[in-house]
Amino acid sequence: MPVPAEVQEKVDALRELLHHHAHRYYVLDEPEIPDAEYDKLFRELQELEELHPELLVPDSPTRRVGAKPLDGFAKVRHKVPMLSIRTETDIAASGARNFDARVRRELGLPESGPPIEYVAELKFDGLALNLRYENGVLVQAATRGDGEIGEEVTQNIRTIGQIPLRLPQDAPPVLEVRGEVYMRRDDFEKLNAQQREKIAQGARNEKTFVNPRNAAAGAVRQLDPGIARRRPLSFFAYGWGEVTPLEQGGPEFTTHFEALLTLRAWGFPVSARTQMAIGAEELVAFHQAVGRERDSLPFDIDGVVYKVNSFALQKQLGFVSREPRWAVAHKYPAQEQVTTVESIDVYVGRTGKLTPVARLAPVFVGGVTVTNATLHNEDEARRKDVRVGDTVIVRRAGDVIPEVVTVVPEKRMHEALLFTMPRQCPVCGSQAVREEGEADYRCTGGLFCGAQRKQAILHFAQRRAMDIEGLGEKLVDQMVEGNVIKTLPDLYRLGLAALCSLDRMAEKSAQNVLAALAGSKQTTLPRFLFGLGIRHVGEATAKDLSRHFGKLDAIMEAGVERLLEVPDVGPVVAQSIHTFFQQAHNREVVEQLRACGVCWEEGEPAARVPKPLAGRTVVLTGTLPTLSRDEAKDLLETAGAKVTGSVSKKTDYVVAGAEAGSKLDKAKELGVTVLDENGLKELLHGRA
Ligand code: IVH
Repeated sequence: MPVPAEVQEKVDALRELLHHHAHRYYVLDEPEIPDAEYDKLFRELQELEELHPELLVPDSPTRRVGAKPLDGFAKVRHKVPMLSIRTETDIAASGARNFDARVRRELGLPESGPPIEYVAELKFDGLALNLRYENGVLVQAATRGDGEIGEEVTQNIRTIGQIPLRLPQDAPPVLEVRGEVYMRRDDFEKLNAQQREKIAQGARNEKTFVNPRNAAAGAVRQLDPGIARRRPLSFFAYGWGEVTPLEQGGPEFTTHFEALLTLRAWGFPVSARTQMAIGAEELVAFHQAVGRERDSLPFDIDGVVYKVNSFALQKQLGFVSREPRWAVAHKYPAQEQVTTVESIDVYVGRTGKLTPVARLAPVFVGGVTVTNATLHNEDEARRKDVRVGDTVIVRRAGDVIPEVVTVVPEKRMHEALLFTMPRQCPVCGSQAVREEGEADYRCTGGLFCGAQRKQAILHFAQRRAMDIEGLGEKLVDQMVEGNVIKTLPDLYRLGLAALCSLDRMAEKSAQNVLAALAGSKQTTLPRFLFGLGIRHVGEATAKDLSRHFGKLDAIMEAGVERLLEVPDVGPVVAQSIHTFFQQAHNREVVEQLRACGVCWEEGEPAARVPKPLAGRTVVLTGTLPTLSRDEAKDLLETAGAKVTGSVSKKTDYVVAGAEAGSKLDKAKELGVTVLDENGLKELLHGRA
């Protein structure tokens, strides 16, 4: 039965619309319609295609989903070989000048002549792809393979929203676009979190991925497109293969940059960071600028690529073996390296937190030599299953603390034991405990623990706290190890003789330290509070507390409720402050410090903020239009309300957003006042 003309028209119109919106969403990142609206159009098309299978075409937006698993990948011979690219060996930014000098030499241009025009691009760390379009329709996607023969991965590539399935009218009859398929870092983190969840629930054949590149490669080569679709991939175009020649109606380009702009106009994602660079110095500047931005990019790059812009010059330069002379890759220091674990030590922090640290055979990674990598906590160390003697991949990106990404299991030659956190502090031998719901073990030794004492003193003395100049790590180590100092007030009881008895402490420097100590006594309340090292009390909180209470005694006497009145102080922080000052030994330390002459000017307490909702109980349910759940909770708590999870007769208000479920029903049943977001705002302003 022929398909009625109006159905065909409807289907065409839906496809047109969906192509348009997919491009807005995936490529431009500027959707015009909500997701739900898109899904509705999509389902409408799906239904029509199901009713009339004869209408199905390979570039229908519905073809992004639902293909069947394959037994293997077909081989594809590339019409135009996929070349590799030469790498500049000088990794410094100035290495870019070598490329320019070589190009000029090969073109026979004098050193002082006009500069050459280049295009500077990012070197995306993914997988190269060739996308073949015939008459504007995506007909084949293939991996690079050995450059001559790749694998056909069309089904999987169709699932990538950023890759157009069809091109506009003005695209040539044959067009092969080349670029990199990659996974964004946030998508990678999400994927790995899901994988961990599956493994935790007992899934056998699941694993986490080492890095976004591997995750992307795994997804592209996934035989089941259903699985590939759930692995979020992205794409950047940076080149092309076979294209209809000009004589047969193909495009008329004369430069690389112009061609990239046209690809963008045809719907391909071209990186916004791609730019023209005139002469060597602009290449150097590009390498430097991208080097600074590298860690904040949403995806991994391993370098930049420079390309001669003019096709005429490219042609003149030609190739050496399989590498064009007109392009070069200029890398950055690798952010991942392989090394071995020599031991796993446990580090004791200022608050007694025990952190397992892998001691590594030194490796140069991310631009520095790394010898330690944090394993965060016991669970993390066991999850990664890092053992002494293991070969591991370490990663250091930017200023981030080096991390063990994964163990290389094939290299494990020995039977080392799984890591367990010692139940005793490795420094003082006190019991180490892990509180319920916490990931960390803590030493219970407090200031009895040498490690905690050292750090507590260093914290107290630091510039942003009591600012005691000259009281550095080496000196504090000696003081604590020699038992010269047991508590903070001991600092102010130090005499010249005791100081001079320490190693390498001449009388002059000892006098300087004493003068610094004396000078530090006159301080401010925020500095003093911060210096005490109360858990969760940073500089900002110390300032907030001082401003709110004015006087130290008021803070020391405040209960949790009063502490919660301080702006930005939540339940965890309030509890921590309260517990700290409840301890007799902490009060004693404060007392003695004051007795030693530590002083500050006290102020008046801030006017008490009104608490319009004190004593009221509120339940939040559903999704509010503008406020997140946490924001709404914060606002309510600041206004004095108690926010609970279930509706009862004691509930004063239920704030309900979209898709509110049983809690809303319960509220109606009990006759509890129900508010929407606007109602909530009025309530907060005391107008309800
Ligand atoms: S151009 C003739 N441009 O790097 C030049 N490649 O080492 C062919 N790559 O296989 C490649 N970003 O997978 C080019 N902006 C970029 C690139 C890029 C990443 C990858 C690509 C290629 C490999 C060459």
